[in-house]
Amino acid sequence: MISEVGVVMNLKFGWNRRSFLSALAAASGGLLAPDRIGALSLFAKKRKPSAPAVDGNPIVPITSGLGSTGDIYAELGVTPLVNINGTVTVIGGSVMPPEVVAAWEKLCGIDLTGTYLRIEYCRDAGGFWLEPHTDIGAKRITIMNFLSTGEESETWGTDIYDNDMKFYESCPGDFNCGLIFIPGTNSYHGFERREIKGIRRSLMLNYVGPEWRARHELCFPDQPVK
Ligand SMILES: [Fe+2]
Repeated sequence: MISEVGVVMNLKFGWNRRSFLSALAAASGGLLAPDRIGALSLFAKKRKPSAPAVDGNPIVPITSGLGSTGDIYAELGVTPLVNINGTVTVIGGSVMPPEVVAAWEKLCGIDLTGTYLRIEYCRDAGGFWLEPHTDIGAKRITIMNFLSTGEESETWGTDIYDNDMKFYESCPGDFNCGLIFIPGTNSYHGFERREIKGIRRSLMLNYVGPEWRARHELCFPDQPVK
């Protein structure tokens, strides 16, 4: 998994990890964050290089690639509008516009034809842990967006393991950062048991194949993204 992520982040695009994660967060957060959906006036604003901190965490400027213009919507070809219809609609982003699916395909070098979008809002607490696993199977791609704030929440990122399932490192759990990978035979990840002071919040997006059995979890069970 390490090598697959490295290919995506470094070889294809030449980004460093932080700028890549920031771009990912900008893409997913921009599509789904209610404050951005509901505040039309924000769309016209261009982000200042020295943007203020969010919940105590500084915003890392994106200087190249996706997100670098400060207008992620224009870069993705997405038309911003005010959503008053909830989340399970094309407007709400549950079924992403073709331009967004195309952006993921281009970013990750995969074909999402015949897949379905699954969005899970996770709230973990206490002694939460998750043993190493690969996600291989119905999940064609896994996209994690961390949304925790508060004390030590930057340490609540997903843990990554080597081919022998030995702990390798934790990815940053900073607010609005994320992790993306294409499941494979060695894409081991999990979460070592550690104290969570508060709630560990994250948004997980998966594009899953037609074999996904829990159809009720899909945004549109009968409608693939393309
Ligand atoms: Fe997983």
